[in-house]
Formats: sequence, structure tokens, C-alpha cells
Amino acid sequence: MRYLVTGGLGFIGSNFLHRLVPSRPGDSFVNVDCCSYAANPKSVESLEGCANYRFVRADLAEAAEVREVVGAVEPDVVVHFAAESHVDRSIRGPESFLKSNVVGTFNLLEAVRERWGARRDGVRFHHVSTDEVFGSLGAEGAFNEETPYDPSSPYSATKAASDHLVRAWHRTFGIPVTISNCSNNYGPRQHPEKLMPLMIMNAAAGKPLPVYGQGANVRDWLHVEDHCAAIELIVDKGTPGQTYNVGGHGERTNMQVVDAICEAVAKETGRSLASVRDQIRFVQDRPGHDFRYAIDPRRIERELQWSPRWSFEDGLRDTVRWYLANDAWCASAVNEEYHAWTQTHYGTSQTEGQTS
Ligand SMILES: NC(=O)c1ccc[n+]([C@@H]2O[C@H](COP(=O)([O-])OP(=O)(O)OC[C@H]3O[C@@H](n4cnc5c(N)ncnc54)[C@H](O)[C@@H]3O)[C@@H](O)[C@H]2O)c1
Repeated sequence: MRYLVTGGLGFIGSNFLHRLVPSRPGDSFVNVDCCSYAANPKSVESLEGCANYRFVRADLAEAAEVREVVGAVEPDVVVHFAAESHVDRSIRGPESFLKSNVVGTFNLLEAVRERWGARRDGVRFHHVSTDEVFGSLGAEGAFNEETPYDPSSPYSATKAASDHLVRAWHRTFGIPVTISNCSNNYGPRQHPEKLMPLMIMNAAAGKPLPVYGQGANVRDWLHVEDHCAAIELIVDKGTPGQTYNVGGHGERTNMQVVDAICEAVAKETGRSLASVRDQIRFVQDRPGHDFRYAIDPRRIERELQWSPRWSFEDGLRDTVRWYLANDAWCASAVNEEYHAWTQTHYGTSQTEGQTS
């Protein structure tokens, strides 16, 4: 099989490639990424020697580039991770989100439709999406696959739009698609603008740990390896046209997450818990901040026998250890662009990270 994986220099895409490339030597993998600020070539460094892996730089927002790469690769399977993914950046500058997430998905669907023609067997387009398309929950309930879309941020609105395009290309043109809507991921190789890596890196460096509002917002946390395992299963065995919600029953308030990170960092570095906790700072909340997300994953559990392998506690400890052990990766992620962004967004070059 020939896989075309978009956004494979990002967090989840690179972890997906680390899972599949070594375990499927008979298949080939082409990683297509535009090398945005969120891309980190170091995340795939160890795959570069693999005979069944190669990287192609292309911008999905440019139709001609997409047509060229899809024509050259002739993929059997497309796994579409590429997106602008940070809610705060989408509030400050939504245009790139429309280009990458909406136009990019449209260009990819069109290029695939042209290439696959009437072919329906042995081909699959998998679209990776988020639970944020469903909007915000109160204290009770969970999103299932029938929950109506109600996105709050420019990011989630563009992801919702891309989900609709993918479904329409199935219903109208018969492209065999699957979609997954997943909760918040954590784990190795995540850009430090996001909550977990930044809290870990700042905690270890003795820098402030900025928490939005009172840290009461609730997210359902899933280890990235569990998400990648779910995507692998859906691509292999999922029903064309079907959507799968993926979540780990791992609901935590942001404050619980930050507390758990403080504990893990204190334990791993031999510092006192009180001194790490002293670094916590409450900062002004994000506009339109969704209160709570929770996923009902019963469809994927029942139909594909998927269940998460990582408990939150074990996953968090493993994640903290990964960031503490990978200084070179962390240094490459905290680059000039990142400092410029934190300066513009927070009025300080101090690094701050939030849930998505
Ligand atoms: N991180 C999460 O918690 C989470 C949860 C659920 C779903 N998702 C979805 O999973 C996907 C991957 O998320 P992530 O956290 O790895 O994001 P990320 O920001 O870490 O990586 C995204 C990658 O896409 C690339 N990209 C962006 N625009 C592109 C374009 N126009 N052309 C080519 N490449 C482009 C970037 O360069 C980057 O390497 C996204 O679609 C996101 O919406 C993420």
C-alpha cells in the first residue's frame, strides 16, 4: 500500500508515522507538509533512514502543488492530519485556518477524486478531526457521533467545515472516507504552544506556569499513541462513510492537569512540590473559551474493539520523562517565531501554552 500522510511534521502526524513506518516495511509512506511554524523536522529525524519513508514539502492550500504530489505518489490511502491547530492563533488570525483547513482539505479531496476516478476498492481517505466541532458541554453529558456541530472558535469552525466537505465528497462522489473526532491529545513531539509541553518545559526551567481563568475548564485527555492506534484501526477496518469519536474517559480540569504535571516534574527532578507549584500564575481567560468537552467513544470501542492503553497517570509520567530527556527537540521547538508569537499574544516573550 502507498500511504500519503499530510501534516507528518506535526505532533500527531509524526507520532502516527513513528507507529506505522517501522511496523509496515512492505508499505510506503510519503509525508506531505508545508513546514509551517508548527512543523518540526526533528520529529521525524529517526525515520529518514527508512527505505519506505520520504518527505515532500507542499502546501495543501495550493491546488497545483497538491495535484502534483498526489499524481506523483498515487496513494492508496490518504491520512489527513495537516491543519492549523491552535485556537489562540485562530482568534488572532483566522485567514490561514481557512486556507489550510478548508481550502487545503478541498484541494486534497479534489486531487484524490481525480486520481482515484471510479476506483473504490483498496482506497481510503481518512480525515483527522477534533471534538471541538461539537462546541461546549455543561457539567453533564458527552459528545457522540450524532451530536450536532456547534463550533465556537475560528479553529473549530474551519475543522467543522472540513468535516462537512469530507462527508459531502463521500455522499456526492462516492469517495471512501472515514472521519475521526478526537479529544485533546498529549504525548511526545507536541508544539510547546499547547498546555502539556509548555507546562512541563516551564516547570522544569523554573518559569511561570500560566493558567487561563481559574483553570476550571474541562478537557478529555488521550495519549497520542492511543489516538494513532485508533486511526490505524479505522483506516484498516472502519466502514466507509463512517465517523468515529475517539476519547479516553480522561476528563480533567486544566488545574488538575497542571497540578499533576507539577507533581511529576517535582518527582522526576528531585525538587520540592511546593517550589514547582509556586510557579503557577492565573492569566486572563481566552474569549469564547469552551467550558467542557467529553467524548462518548462507544462506537469505536464496540465496532473496532479499540480501547486506550494508557492511563492518564502513566501517560503523563511517560510524557514528562520524554520532554525532560529530549532537550534538543525542546530547544528546536522554542524558536524565534515562537518567541515572537508569545510576545504579540501575551505581551511577554515568556513561553505560555494552552490546551489546543
Ligand atoms: N492536538 C490535538 O489534541 C488534536 C485533537 C484532535 C484532533 N486534532 C487534529 O489532528 C490534526 C493534527 O493535529 P496536531 O496537533 O498534530 O497539529 P500540529 O499543529 O502539531 O501539526 C499540523 C501540521 O500540519 C502542517 N500543515 C498545516 N497547514 C498545512 C498546509 N496548508 N499544507 C501542508 N501542511 C500543513 C503543519 O506544518 C504541521 O506540521 C489536526 O487536523 C487537528 O485538528 C488534534
